[in-house]
Amino acid sequence: MNDTQDPSSDAPADSNSAGAGPSIGASGAPSAGPQAASSLHTRHEGWSGRFSEPVADFVLRYTASVGFDQRLAQADIDGSLAHAWMLAQVGVLSEQDLQAIENGLGLIRAEIESGEFPWQLGLEDVHLNIEARLTELIGAAGKRLHTGRSRNDQVATDLRLYLRAQIDGVLGELMRLQRALVELASVHTDTILPGFTHMQVAQPVVFGHHLLAYVEMLERDAERLREARVRVNRLPLGAAALAGTSYPIDREAVARRLGFEGVSRNSMDAVSDRDFVIEFCAAAALAMVHLSRFAEELILWVSPQFGFIDLPDRFTTGSSIMPQKRNPDVPELARGKTGRVVGSLVSLLMMVKGQPLAYNKDNQEDKEPVFDTVDTLRDTLHAFAELVPGIVVHRDAMRRAAQQGFATATDLADYLARRGMPFRDAHEAVGRAVRRAAQLGCDLGELSLEELRGFAPQIDADALPALGLEGSVAARNHIGGTAPVQVAQQVAFWRARLQAEVPSPGRSGGAHA
Ligand code: ARG
Repeated sequence: MNDTQDPSSDAPADSNSAGAGPSIGASGAPSAGPQAASSLHTRHEGWSGRFSEPVADFVLRYTASVGFDQRLAQADIDGSLAHAWMLAQVGVLSEQDLQAIENGLGLIRAEIESGEFPWQLGLEDVHLNIEARLTELIGAAGKRLHTGRSRNDQVATDLRLYLRAQIDGVLGELMRLQRALVELASVHTDTILPGFTHMQVAQPVVFGHHLLAYVEMLERDAERLREARVRVNRLPLGAAALAGTSYPIDREAVARRLGFEGVSRNSMDAVSDRDFVIEFCAAAALAMVHLSRFAEELILWVSPQFGFIDLPDRFTTGSSIMPQKRNPDVPELARGKTGRVVGSLVSLLMMVKGQPLAYNKDNQEDKEPVFDTVDTLRDTLHAFAELVPGIVVHRDAMRRAAQQGFATATDLADYLARRGMPFRDAHEAVGRAVRRAAQLGCDLGELSLEELRGFAPQIDADALPALGLEGSVAARNHIGGTAPVQVAQQVAFWRARLQAEVPSPGRSGGAHA
């Protein structure tokens, strides 16, 4: 079986098998049609000794992962190069074999990049495909690569290498979006719009403050991803099938070479758990949930009922029947795609639930959810980072909306409370004033001083500025408040911070895109 460590009995699929199965299209879709099925009998050739009949065609298709795990190919080659190098260092592999393996894997890397690699569904997964091709290209040395290793620690290593690079990519996009939001905020530190609670006008805020709320959410998303990355970045290789290997391997050296921050301490844990994938998907799901909130606001703001903003034409689509439409498809899709990311997280949690130690084939199901999550999150962050600088803000519409709905009622109550009236009584008095204004169809600030005094005699002329929008936002002048001076300070803080921050820790490279 492939899980043993004896190089002779652990031979990869031999050179005959590499050409025998049907190839897979460039799209990576496994050819599952009946025409293809009849010639798929190559699977047992990697471990033929034990079996007396070929794997059933259906089982080949059902168990194969090469249609999707091709995405791990570059990581798989990097892992194999490090493994072979280490085997040579400790004297298990000859220098000559190492040289041949390095050359062969170099050729394979180029074949994969150019789309010429002959992927075989019959060879199950990315690992067996590459190994079989290596043996086809370089002969016996290719069969020695798998010494002291199993696909179980190999796939865990590949996935960690892949995910580490993807986290760095996601962090880069995340920061681009943050920067775009901060720049938009910087020109709107005194653009007033209504702040809502329960979707009803609550208090005036400045638009820059509203935008920076998302910068904060995204920063916590980035933090979660950076923390997850530390746990992703452990080397499982050396765990072999589950118990370790009898070869004198040097795991620390492999870890250093691949940029891992340490090696896994327990081989059974190393090959079986997928918590690092789940952590990534949990952080991604939360980031998507944040983006879905922003998406929803954009959708509301572009609606004619709000009219707060316009999105650039290149981000909107028309309707085939209603000529007046400009639909915010990109935010709507982002909102919709949040569901698939949350779904992937749930799939992965359920995949691991109840699995006994150590490796089980269930774990092959980790790949599609994680790939889809990476794609969806990266694309969505990218879309928003491109969209935000093109947002056209209609200050007047925002302002008009803030003038409706008695957004400064709290300010009047605060004024009365400062004059000694208990806040609850002030709340009551202002409530009556609001009712009166609503009857007259005007805003609080449009009631005469005379009229206002009818509700609370403590009200003097100096109360009137507080009823204006500028006075209201300026008064919230403390850390975290919406006063324009505070928001300007926050913009400066974020500019400095996002300038200083490097998206990836930089300790370890690798771009397994
Ligand atoms: N394709 C497999 C996966 O994704 C690789 C590991 C297979 N190991 C095994 N013993 N069958 O998990």
